[in-house]
Amino acid sequence: TAIKIFSPATVANVGCGFDVLGFCLDTIGDEMLIRKTTAKGIKITKIEGFDLPYDVKENVAGISALAMYEDLKPNCGFEIEIYKKIKPGSGIGSSSASAAGSVFGINAILGFPLNKTELTFYAMKGEAFASKSEHADNLAPAIFGGFTLVKSTHPLRILELPTPKNLYATLIHPQIEIKTSEARALLPDKLKLSSAIRQWANIGSLVHGLHTSDYELIKESMTDVVAEPYRKELIPYFDKLKAAVLKAGALGCAISGSGPSIFALSKGKKTAKIVEQVMNHVYSESDIPFETYVSKIN
Ligand code: HSE
Repeated sequence: TAIKIFSPATVANVGCGFDVLGFCLDTIGDEMLIRKTTAKGIKITKIEGFDLPYDVKENVAGISALAMYEDLKPNCGFEIEIYKKIKPGSGIGSSSASAAGSVFGINAILGFPLNKTELTFYAMKGEAFASKSEHADNLAPAIFGGFTLVKSTHPLRILELPTPKNLYATLIHPQIEIKTSEARALLPDKLKLSSAIRQWANIGSLVHGLHTSDYELIKESMTDVVAEPYRKELIPYFDKLKAAVLKAGALGCAISGSGPSIFALSKGKKTAKIVEQVMNHVYSESDIPFETYVSKIN
């Protein structure tokens, strides 16, 4: 028995929702193949695309799979093949896609003994190894799809949020690497009360905007005053790109996860495509190679 999986890229934070909000991109993702074996244990038998460790205890997909395997104790083993398309360190949930894919695949082969929250729990073990922190804002949308909110990690509680019908994401991935652990280390551990008030007002409003398909409210609510001011220095042309994208009609623009990818949300595919052209235009001034994508949020 074997199962082939598309494990999607995801955008964490969505501007103001640091460590809690995320959404799933349906056009970018890794492919994985999980095979049931009579020999017990977990093995990674193939990795294509990027140079990642085959040692199960050093690989995000392996760590997550092993944590789940040791608890479920099935009477079989699994081989994992990873066809990595999402570049590690790109800010669109590369490690989460690997972690989510392995637990999702094993669960499917075993006849779905675990629910999606339980899968996210095991996937977090791999994510924690990669980013040195147990957050689930990329994992939850990779496993549940659409928009998600991580209400808490201990105990793990995930809320599924609705996606307005006409909402599109445009993404630019500049080919520089930012390690999540380093981007997290840049953040201060104390927050000014005035910043906190702005941030939680924005998160509440953004969630309300998603529930009511209120595009104007979404537009007014994405601003992140907690992480972006510190992290944007790591991303060349960030301010220029953001200003140009908003001028072109995007609802909002922010760092995707811990960067370097930047995403914009737009109402309608036409605007999302114009935003893509603008992103291309701004970044073609630089000598950094980049890729852009437009994706419906599903
Ligand atoms: N919420 C995380 C961060 C996402 O911004 O550090 C990156 O994995």
